[in-house]
Amino acid sequence: MIYSRIAGTGRYLPERILSNRELESMVDTTEEWIRTRTGIERRHIAADNQATSDLAEQAARQAMDAAGVTADDIDFLVVGTTTPDLIFPNVGCLVQRRLGIHGCPAFSLEAACSGFIYALTMADRFVASGAAKCALVIGAETLSRIVDWSDRSTCVLFGDGAGAVVLKPADEPGLLSCHLGADGHYGDLLYHPYGTSRPQKPEDTAQPFIQMKGNEVFKVAVKTLEGIVDQALSANNLERSAIDWLIPHQANIRIIQATARRLDMPMEKVVLTLPDHGNTSAASVPIALDVAVRDGRVKRGDLLLLEAFGGGLTWGSALVRY
Ligand code: ACO
Repeated sequence: MIYSRIAGTGRYLPERILSNRELESMVDTTEEWIRTRTGIERRHIAADNQATSDLAEQAARQAMDAAGVTADDIDFLVVGTTTPDLIFPNVGCLVQRRLGIHGCPAFSLEAACSGFIYALTMADRFVASGAAKCALVIGAETLSRIVDWSDRSTCVLFGDGAGAVVLKPADEPGLLSCHLGADGHYGDLLYHPYGTSRPQKPEDTAQPFIQMKGNEVFKVAVKTLEGIVDQALSANNLERSAIDWLIPHQANIRIIQATARRLDMPMEKVVLTLPDHGNTSAASVPIALDVAVRDGRVKRGDLLLLEAFGGGLTWGSALVRY
């Protein structure tokens, strides 16, 4: 039996930091409101000459170094993103070219904030079936480009960044389980109103920015994430106490606290990077994982529960023996 395991992690956050205080001069908000209602203290914003693939490339290089692999080793490349550089080539192909990787499948997939968990699941299936021997999995976003900077209900939440992992085959698991889900019926709670093929109607007045019914998303997120946690544990016959680290999607401290309560887990066992970068959508879980690996909290052999929830609505979890 072949399993996949995480061989290396990496991340990249753009240099420019936008603090809560700076936002006070942009919209009608306060540093205190943002911090207490969301847990966010600052976010990183991509430079004018940086696109999603630039951020993804940096995170990928770190993950490849950490895993001790080169461009010649990578035989599967997937990027979770909602903010691709172009309609096509896809971000996977753009990153593939930058890294000097040739010939392997390279693609991006769109599942909003759940994009990394979706991408990790695809890569796991390829590695565990023997179809790939070294998969590069990236979550990368430049959400600052699709945020309305005059809308206080959304602009305080989002930031730019990228995270990546390299998956390799192993005799022991590795990725113990992945569970994905979606419910398109909730699509209008969180969406971007413009694409490429939907004909515009005269009554379409929405601006080309993220539209969100935050309060309603919040409620569905808390309920769904409780279900995800129970599903991952029962599929693996595990007690809540078996989990060493919860590595959640970093959207709102109150959503994360609710999930931790469901797991009976003290917040010291939750990897929380939200204050430093806000909601980076598909990038948030691999960024948090990389932070905890590099600062020594997450050690080989630890049991990690990764989970995410986002636009679509989409959700997913991965239970990982690191
Ligand atoms: N500063 C000050 N006041 C604000 C701000 C702000 N930045 N934003 C909203 N308010 C006000 C509202 O206008 C409202 O005022 P009112 O009572 O006078 O009408 C009040 O604060 C409360 O607004 P709510 O929307 O009810 O605030 P809530 O406590 O729900 O927090 C938030 C809003 C932070 C957006 C929360 O609902 C949330 O985190 N939702 C989930 C977001 C999420 O997880 N998204 C999924 C992933 S994103 C993706 O997939 C791309």
